[in-house]
Amino acid sequence: MDFFEVLRRRHSVRAYLAKKVEKEKLERILEAIDSAPSAGNLKAYKVVVIEDERKRKELADAAFSQQFVAQAPVVLVFFADTQKSASHYGIRGEQLYALQDATIACCFAMLACFALGLANCWVGAFDDSKVKEICGIREQALRPVAILPIGYADE
Ligand SMILES: Cc1cc2nc3c(=O)[nH]c(=O)nc-3n(C[C@H](O)[C@H](O)[C@H](O)COP(=O)(O)O)c2cc1C
Repeated sequence: MDFFEVLRRRHSVRAYLAKKVEKEKLERILEAIDSAPSAGNLKAYKVVVIEDERKRKELADAAFSQQFVAQAPVVLVFFADTQKSASHYGIRGEQLYALQDATIACCFAMLACFALGLANCWVGAFDDSKVKEICGIREQALRPVAILPIGYADE
């Protein structure tokens, strides 16, 4: 799809078909994430890929019962790595750059999805500590920034 068409047609989708997301497409989305700019090229973020049905349901509950999160066959969870950025940029890295790195990474994923014919919706309303627990993240420096359910649109 033409880049400007992707921008024009992108919109949040909150209903997904049961159809799986192909492995190749998921790999291309992860490549797109990896190509995103980041402060000092540190890539101060972590992305957790959740496909397990039970965990998707737990994530939906942690997102204050936004059940469409569980409906999507793949859910990406973006974490800002505040310590990684802080180690180079101090307080500015910790409080600003790490969040920006994770945000841009998520944005690249969103656009890549639409270019591949997949839908998504940025989910920012969730309980941080529950999301961390579900994703198996213990490091205090990793802050969840966005949940991105991905799938084929059913709307
Ligand atoms: C920081 C952020 C947090 C958001 N959180 C949620 C959310 O928790 N649940 C939801 O359904 N949509 C969420 N959205 C999606 C917005 O509601 C949506 O992008 C906006 O209404 C514009 O619609 P569009 O994406 O179709 O252009 C969020 C978007 C952003 C950027």
